[in-house]
Amino acid sequence: MAVTDWKALFAACGECRRCDLANTRHNVVVGVGNPQAEIMFIGEGPGENEDLKGEPFVGRAGKLLDQMLAAVGLSRQHNIYIANIVKCRPPKNRDPLPEEQAACTPWLMQQIEAINPKIIVCLGRIAACYMIDPDFKVMKQHGEFIEKDGRLMMGMLHPAAILRNPNQRSVAFADFVTLRDKIAEICTHTELVFPE
Ligand code: URA
Repeated sequence: MAVTDWKALFAACGECRRCDLANTRHNVVVGVGNPQAEIMFIGEGPGENEDLKGEPFVGRAGKLLDQMLAAVGLSRQHNIYIANIVKCRPPKNRDPLPEEQAACTPWLMQQIEAINPKIIVCLGRIAACYMIDPDFKVMKQHGEFIEKDGRLMMGMLHPAAILRNPNQRSVAFADFVTLRDKIAEICTHTELVFPE
């Protein structure tokens, strides 16, 4: 997809009123990262910080995500793209409703088509159930690669859940190592970048 098409996508998302989340949002949180990335991360929906800034995963959970990404040579500045299932904040951070997820689906599908990632990582239960399998059990199936629609998909624990339950950090980190190994195997254009 050409750069101008991304501009059009951001502009169209910015005007979206396909569901009631449009009434309470401050910003539409479309996505961030390298549109040519071979790896895409998908979260659930913007929280308060994301809604105010217009960028996904910029609050406490986002900082933890950035740290875990950096440890395996990944970052939104270089080699991944990050988006959410819903682009507008659900009030009081409630789960996005099925109809809100459905209304937002065309935007996410356009992003996935444009990026054409080899690997999609779903952060948390809601994203994994939406993208991989409605019966996905994130505590049981996290870290497993599942082939779907010609891509590899993996569910991971949501970074906000790790903040609530810090003894899950090592389990979560192991999934990033599994991801790094798969990237080395199949993502021929991805250069891992480690902070100095
Ligand atoms: N949680 C999400 O799922 N997405 C964000 O962008 C921020 C927090």
